[in-house]
Amino acid sequence: MNTAAIKFDAFENLKNQDCQQRILKARKVLGDEIVILGHHYQNEEVYRHADLAGDSLKLAKYVENLEAKYIIFLGVHFMAEVANILSRQDQITVLPDLSAGCSMADMANLAKVERSYRELNKVLDFDSEITPITYINSAADLKAFCGEHEGIVCTSTNAPKILDWAFNQKEKVLFFPDQNLGRWTGYKMGIPLDLMPIWDPDLPLGGLTEDEIKKAKVLLWKGHCAVHQMFRLEHIQHFKKNHPDGFVISHPESPFEVCLNSDLVGSTEFILNTIKEADPNTKWLVGTELNLVNRLANEMKAEGKLVQFMSHVVCECSTMARIDPQHLAWTLENIINGIPVNVITVPKNEAKFAKLTLDKMLEVS
Ligand code: 13P
Ligand code: SF4
Repeated sequence: MNTAAIKFDAFENLKNQDCQQRILKARKVLGDEIVILGHHYQNEEVYRHADLAGDSLKLAKYVENLEAKYIIFLGVHFMAEVANILSRQDQITVLPDLSAGCSMADMANLAKVERSYRELNKVLDFDSEITPITYINSAADLKAFCGEHEGIVCTSTNAPKILDWAFNQKEKVLFFPDQNLGRWTGYKMGIPLDLMPIWDPDLPLGGLTEDEIKKAKVLLWKGHCAVHQMFRLEHIQHFKKNHPDGFVISHPESPFEVCLNSDLVGSTEFILNTIKEADPNTKWLVGTELNLVNRLANEMKAEGKLVQFMSHVVCECSTMARIDPQHLAWTLENIINGIPVNVITVPKNEAKFAKLTLDKMLEVS
């Protein structure tokens, strides 16, 4: 019987090609014992091994119906946590590199959210007036906070439905951690921008006056995605000048003026489906992560479609990119070895309340 896990050192310097062979070999040995889920932003070198791919909502829905003992998650930490929360107790979730986090998710933490709760209680009665909504890009303890305070989780796909649900419960929303998704969704519902002020969790009363808090409909957490923040109105203007018949499609994590000047705005799944279903020879400027755009551009060439990345600089999600063939091969061989590594386990008390909000989200959407 093996008593120690295989160390990563033995894989660190392996060539990608060698890793590919080892991954395929390990998959043959493990068969139905494992299922590999992959987010659309994953690099082609690992994405090709995903049994099921999707955006955050689709991946969360898949988890509910998986039979395999091991769920290998090609994505970032919060996604693997969601898989752990929604899977059966006897299933094991593995994230090949534990440092694959989400810099936007890190812009909110429980201490700051609890402090915001106390600050808002100085002006209002939080629990009777505010629904906390956390974007799925957040740690499990923030989902648990929402579970304990009649709140809910949303993704980029279901944000309009979730916001609508929230306003049927209470008057106001505290939306964290992505201000851009919150603002765009609220704006599309007809909420005036001045009723959606930024809530800075590091300032007393979020940097707002009592009056501004009382008037607000949505308090937007001061957080954003560093990848989508790179997209600019000038990129759209440049594209439209060169391709007046072209279309612009963006992820709602992009800045407000980018969303406002895009023809279409939606989740990664929406972007992929829209362009795949579009007429041949159409032209697209895409405001989302580079790996997705590059893969789509290659796939669409056969139909004569031009798929162009929005920024002139490389905007890869560097944390997503930490999941590489070396880490995937390493984790699979450790499962064969009988000592799984990089297992994601959300503490039971957190998982209970986080599951409450995730189940509510799946029901509402
Ligand atoms: P999707 O749910 O649209 O895939 O978005 C997840 C994400 O992290 C986008 O940056
Ligand atoms: Fe997080 Fe942005 Fe990467 Fe999405 S693209 S996982 S929001 S850092």
